[in-house]
Amino acid sequence: MSDFQSEQALDAENFQAIAELAYQESGLRLLAEKKSMIQSRLRKRLKVLGYSDFSRYARHVCSDAGREERRYMISALTTNVSHFFREIHHFEYLKAEIAPALISALNAGKRVRIWSAGCSNGQEAYSLAMLFSELFPTVFESDFRILATDIDPNVVAFARTAEYPERLINGVPSVMLSKYFRKASGSSEVLYTVDSKIARLVTFRELNLLSDWPMRQQFDVIFCRNVVIYFDSETQDTLWPRFHSVLKPDGLLFLGHSERISQPEQTGFQNCGPTTYRSAGITRNTPGY
Ligand SMILES: C[S@@+](CC[C@H](N)C(=O)[O-])C[C@H]1O[C@@H](n2cnc3c(N)ncnc32)[C@H](O)[C@@H]1O
Repeated sequence: MSDFQSEQALDAENFQAIAELAYQESGLRLLAEKKSMIQSRLRKRLKVLGYSDFSRYARHVCSDAGREERRYMISALTTNVSHFFREIHHFEYLKAEIAPALISALNAGKRVRIWSAGCSNGQEAYSLAMLFSELFPTVFESDFRILATDIDPNVVAFARTAEYPERLINGVPSVMLSKYFRKASGSSEVLYTVDSKIARLVTFRELNLLSDWPMRQQFDVIFCRNVVIYFDSETQDTLWPRFHSVLKPDGLLFLGHSERISQPEQTGFQNCGPTTYRSAGITRNTPGY
């Protein structure tokens, strides 16, 4: 039996060191009850590095020399589940309540920017690009762009390829599938490639939401869904004013189905729909909420 196969367990001391590091680096809270899942995810990193035990891994990843490995450790620990047009009510709200004004702005030659923060494999960002193409067929000639960011270098690299195996294509309506994807047989599975015009609307970048944000322009809409659920409430509360500062007045912030801004009015937001927040500014007459 090799050293690796002996599968030494992640003991409490190393778990603690890794949990503290993950929290500092990314805001992720590693719960003790999830230890066996965390252990099995990290074993893959031990294997890549050729380490036989978690003590050596923990020492390395916590050291200055472990800087690069910290990115891959966070990648191994994050949950990247996503699908196209996830939580469809947000896309419907966008279409009904804000897209008409954004399209008028684009028609008037103005800039429109959307941010998919915590974009995972890119399905959310490409869904937004397809939605705008449907609503405004000349979007490709307008000043419309989507920024899509994630802390995980692996998902960012995957999203940039714009190629999805069949199992990740869930949620795309069949009309859009034939209109916006090219189907090709890969070596082992069928691949769907996003149309290049749609893909060019989206820019993918690696970005840790807890670090500095280099963006200088404000956004009309931010999707940050199913990301802050992995953070504790203190970390979440540091993000709301930051999102507010990069949203245009009256801009929209969409969160995931189990995420909430605890006291929206204190951070300049107004709840205007299920997990939907409007940055305080020009008051709209939005019926219904
Ligand atoms: C469950 S996915 C959500 C994907 C998409 N927004 C959706 O709702 O389908 C959560 C994503 O958040 C990313 N994430 C976790 N912590 C992050 C951080 N500190 N900064 C940026 N992204 C982070 C993960 O890498 C992961 O891809």
